[in-house]
Amino acid sequence: MIRAIAFDAYGTLFDVHSVRALLEEIYPGRAGAISILWRQKQLEYTWLRALMERYEDFWAITRSGLIYALKNQGIKPRPADVERLMAQYLKLDPHVEAIEALTALKQSGLRLAISSNGSPAMLDAVVRHAGLDTLLEAVISVDPVRVFKPHHKAYDIVTETLALPAADILFVSSNGFDVAGATYYGFETAWIQRSAGQAEELGATPAHSIRYLTDLVTLVS
Ligand code: LAC
Repeated sequence: MIRAIAFDAYGTLFDVHSVRALLEEIYPGRAGAISILWRQKQLEYTWLRALMERYEDFWAITRSGLIYALKNQGIKPRPADVERLMAQYLKLDPHVEAIEALTALKQSGLRLAISSNGSPAMLDAVVRHAGLDTLLEAVISVDPVRVFKPHHKAYDIVTETLALPAADILFVSSNGFDVAGATYYGFETAWIQRSAGQAEELGATPAHSIRYLTDLVTLVS
């Protein structure tokens, strides 16, 4: 019996590539490449720092990923541009169907939360900017446990905060690695398979594969 839904934030509720317009303005013609590499390095650094036990919060990691991506493109990062781009991360667009989906799910009586690598301040800002704050009961950051998903401690705080067993929580993510970690942890899982989404070969198959957040409404009813 599903009583609550925990949503991953970046890529699942928020479109990480909505930074492209500003990237295009600052670095014409290179926005696509920078945006993809920025996200890739950001995630890589979470996994590497978790393995090395060298935690830095996701805000610092996001900046490092951006600097790597710019240098990779032969750009010398100007501090003012980096700060403008970082500020844009606090104003990411929600995916188009996010508000409609969360509104309907909340109306059906489910408790809704975010489970994210993001640091509390950056999550708070992006959630408020998108107007999702009134729909969410909890915004659960990994920051108190100083490790990133898919480490089990990152999922422990979800069950602890919601005070529910993992099997009573539907964990929703567009990130294959996150869905794999959440499936192994024991959550019921739904993978949001956006356009280019390819399943990870990690041995854990999500209970549900759907295309849009709004598909969750029929799934839970
Ligand atoms: C998050 C990353 C995985 O929000 O996108 O935790």
